[in-house]
Amino acid sequence: MSVVKINVLTVPAEQREVLEKRFAARAGLVEGEDGFEWFELLRPVAGTDTYLVYTRWRSEADFENWMNGRMREAHQGGGGQRPAAAGAELWSFEVVQQAGPAASGEGATAPGTAG
Ligand code: HEM
Repeated sequence: MSVVKINVLTVPAEQREVLEKRFAARAGLVEGEDGFEWFELLRPVAGTDTYLVYTRWRSEADFENWMNGRMREAHQGGGGQRPAAAGAELWSFEVVQQAGPAASGEGATAPGTAG
């Protein structure tokens, strides 16, 4: 069963742009990891002002392998720069149920198939 790990970042308003640029600069760093399934950086619009770093993994063990090893590459500080985030908290979930859009209509194709 997949697990979802959400890092909740408290980011002062004036640091938002810095934070987003730092993430953009590190795009591509988790895609190849064993057991990695999904990542989203979520910018708050209403109801909260924390950013969410949504990640999804095949298993708890896959997440922990990444955390204890290659995660550092995604978090190497750029030459002693101050973090844009003022705080961080890790939330953990198990995926109980999920759905995606149903393939429908004529000519619908499964993702990844041609034509
Ligand atoms: C659930 C998994 C993750 C955890 C536990 C985690 C942990 C953290 C923590 C504690 C911070 C705040 C400290 C700081 O600002 O340096 C942070 C910020 C950051 N993380 Fe992660 N992270 C996760 C996923 C990711 C991923 C997948 C990426 C890249 C693709 C990433 C890239 C960054 C960047 C660029 C920052 C901003 C640093 C800054 O504030 O200037 N993180 N992360």
